[in-house]
Amino acid sequence: MSGSRIDALLSEMTLAEKIGQLNMLAAGFSVTGPIIGGDATGAVREGRAGSLLNVFGPSSVRDIQRVAIEESRLKIPLILGFDVVHGHRTVFPVPLGEAAAFDPALWEATARASAREAAADGVALTFAPMLDVSRDPRWGRVVEGPGEDPFVHALFGAAKVRGFQGDALDDPSTVAATVKHFVGYGAAAAGRDYASTDMSERTLRETYLPPFQAAIAAGCAAVMPAFSDLSGVPMTANGPLLTSWLRREAGFEGVVISDYNAVAELVAHGVATDLAEAAALALRAGVDVDMMSGAYERGLPDALSRGLVTLAEIETSVRRVLQLKERLGLFDDPMRGLRDQGAAPLLAEHRPLAREAARRSAVLLSNRNDILPIAANPLRIAMVGPLGDAPTDMMGSWSGAGEARDSVTFLRGLREARPDCDIGYARGVGVDEAEEGGPDAALELARAADLVILAIGEARDMSGEAASRTGLDLPGDQANFARAVLALGRPTVVVLSSGRPLAVPWLFERADAVLATWFLGSEAGHALADLLTGRAAPSGRLPLTWPRSVGQVPIFFGERPSGRPASDGHYTSKYIDLPTTPLFAFGHGLTYGHVRYASLSVEPSRPRRDDAISVSVELANEGVHAAEETVFLFVRKPVSRVARPLLELKGFLRMGLEPGERARGVLTLPVSALAFPGPDLTSSVEPGDYEILVGPSADRTRLLRQVVHIEEGGA
Ligand code: GLC
Repeated sequence: MSGSRIDALLSEMTLAEKIGQLNMLAAGFSVTGPIIGGDATGAVREGRAGSLLNVFGPSSVRDIQRVAIEESRLKIPLILGFDVVHGHRTVFPVPLGEAAAFDPALWEATARASAREAAADGVALTFAPMLDVSRDPRWGRVVEGPGEDPFVHALFGAAKVRGFQGDALDDPSTVAATVKHFVGYGAAAAGRDYASTDMSERTLRETYLPPFQAAIAAGCAAVMPAFSDLSGVPMTANGPLLTSWLRREAGFEGVVISDYNAVAELVAHGVATDLAEAAALALRAGVDVDMMSGAYERGLPDALSRGLVTLAEIETSVRRVLQLKERLGLFDDPMRGLRDQGAAPLLAEHRPLAREAARRSAVLLSNRNDILPIAANPLRIAMVGPLGDAPTDMMGSWSGAGEARDSVTFLRGLREARPDCDIGYARGVGVDEAEEGGPDAALELARAADLVILAIGEARDMSGEAASRTGLDLPGDQANFARAVLALGRPTVVVLSSGRPLAVPWLFERADAVLATWFLGSEAGHALADLLTGRAAPSGRLPLTWPRSVGQVPIFFGERPSGRPASDGHYTSKYIDLPTTPLFAFGHGLTYGHVRYASLSVEPSRPRRDDAISVSVELANEGVHAAEETVFLFVRKPVSRVARPLLELKGFLRMGLEPGERARGVLTLPVSALAFPGPDLTSSVEPGDYEILVGPSADRTRLLRQVVHIEEGGA
């Protein structure tokens, strides 16, 4: 539909029909917020809703789209949106887990597969990727994004947009991506979801905006503002960021879709008296579509008559929505990618990818005496704990159209992989409730075993939206159960499922090995079995810092220096009750190999502004198993006009190494990547010395370091 056709359609529309295109409703059967969906069908028939969320599947989509294109007056097709965050029917690892693979190609591939399945079920737009940098694991939504680092977020977000959107949105196997939640949502006060955020312009520009810039540069079709305020201005009414930065500075030309009920919540934020004022604030700030609050439908006519908005402003948003429908090809084919069988037939095809993604998302945190991989001879194995046979929890939060019956549990996966072993299972304890009959059966099973697999952690609903925790402990009575199991003195491997790091130092001291498995999705059990048996080697690396205690939070590697750095000295930036160092650094993760780093080379040592710096390092696998190593490249400017973070991540590289193999890994660092906002917040490369640091994690004691000098900087 060309611009003139959109203008022609606009000219036919009544005010109610124009506002209808800006109104997104949740279908009655599934809501993801506090307001329950009403009569969406009637609204569609009367042209009062231009898009719906949470509708998918051949019959539902066909029925509601037919109401739109056959029964409404102007027959404008609907956009159907859904939270396809880490899979649709095939559930991939939660984003925090998948980030551990440090592989943009994998991140793109799983988004591509998810889009194919969602489009087959009639979905045209996903509310993903979520790119909220988070350094506070109390915040439940830390599970939905790729961790603590903006560089990783930028690569993850661009990969997801490419995967979801493919080469063009008129390809019926794609979905429009909605990058969210713009911006700063992960900095919620006290780690409490929906709480206020407050930060400097510098932190905003250095940490929270770059991931959105990358997603926009990758062409994402939509943006969703955060529920939260940013330093007192709710994002849903934040004109400077939604219009000045987003559309003018970042060049975004797509559609801004509010979060669920967020427009009406401007009243609760205390910046609007009534729905009309809330609607006017949001529309004028740059929010095109009102998800589910009814503020646009009920408030905009009043706002128009009170002169709070103009018809032209309304029509600007309507035009953006119609242009997105046109880009999606909905005017030509309203059923778009819908298949008679929906997404279900694609599940089998995508299982191998789900298994590979799950394998590469698990992080081997500890492996004392190389207890893993498990021995090849038949063993009596006791699997105990509430996450050992938990198909629903394996899917994690925001599991899309995933069905628990499609999940391969840890127990099933291990039994299939090792039929020669006698593998018993007993829960012993619930996730946060006691087990009927108590732990005795599980303890008996463990006591008689050659090997114990202790599958513990969080339930899937203990992270995600509205699921912040004050502590980072094992929920319920699991700690006591785990201590009792470990006290038996049997070789014990802990499989820790969670939506956040759990601060349980005592567990790592006593267990022989610990695998962080996050929530690995539909193929969790097969992936775990591949890793435990050595059919595949662990390669995941932590995408966020793992604290010793919740008292250390926020804790992240990119903090700025103190004038009194932590040391043994009394008057230094330390705690008196714990070390300031984390339990595990960002990037930590063991393989079954033993990789040594040596001979860092950085050329040229005096690069010019337009140069690229070549960084190479030698790796040697001194172990007896193959290893896939992830090498991290950090920089630090030790002296600058503005104090720079202790480390900034600027690259990473994955290398496979056979036993005994040594090889050089090479990373390229453009000098332009060293730019940062100066005292006046304009970004430029500052001349001077820069440390180039390379190693297996953000643990500074393990980094090789060289200094380069940049003579002349510049924008
Ligand atoms: C929820 C979430 C958002 C999601 C939307 C639609 O409240 O904040 O991430 O996309 O509503 O489900």
